[in-house]
Amino acid sequence: VIEPYSSTAVLPFDPHGWLHHVNERNLRRIIQTYVPTTIVELGAWLGETTRFLAREAPKGATVYAVDHFLGGPDIAHIPEVPPRLPTLYQQFISNIRHSGLCDRIVPVRMDTQEAARALGPTPDLVYMDACMFESSFLPDVKAWWARLADGGVLCGDDWLFFPDVPRVLGQLQDELGLVVHNDDNFWWCDPKRGPQEARA
Ligand SMILES: C[S@@+](CC[C@H](N)C(=O)[O-])C[C@H]1O[C@@H](n2cnc3c(N)ncnc32)[C@H](O)[C@@H]1O
Repeated sequence: VIEPYSSTAVLPFDPHGWLHHVNERNLRRIIQTYVPTTIVELGAWLGETTRFLAREAPKGATVYAVDHFLGGPDIAHIPEVPPRLPTLYQQFISNIRHSGLCDRIVPVRMDTQEAARALGPTPDLVYMDACMFESSFLPDVKAWWARLADGGVLCGDDWLFFPDVPRVLGQLQDELGLVVHNDDNFWWCDPKRGPQEARA
């Protein structure tokens, strides 16, 4: 087992997470259509979606799980959240070890904005599920749209649960050239066009 997995004391598996079957269906469709090999998840929690992405992704793909593992203001009121915060990172690492996906998942223990500056690889799929309040979500859409490869897909959770999500995406649609769709609570944008296509 490689680092940082090898040096973390393993806790029993904790299946808690937020992966709805509608998100599974759409993420599977996007992966099968666009075959991304550098996937970024913003907001990983205990890795339920991270593990799904790693299992669905093509052979050789890497999933970068960006999370500061501190929780967030938008989920603080959920009863299942506070008791998990003291061991969130250790439990994430443990869950990935139990799943046997250590070689496909890279934990990036950073704020989403810091990671947008610090991560080397260029993502061809970004799944947004960190803080969905406008103060975080708006700068995250801008930063990660800028980081996305030409032809890459930006998508995320909470179209219905957090009103800031459709509002911010609508607000940025002209500036960034976003064409946004949703299926229930899941949303995605048409692939990012390169500068030449965008001019055409
Ligand atoms: C709803 S949970 C993610 C659920 C996860 N995608 C799943 O499949 O279960 C939101 C996560 O975003 C993280 N988060 C919130 N704001 C963040 C920020 N500014 N930078 C990094 N992570 C953040 C929290 O620590 C939390 O783990």
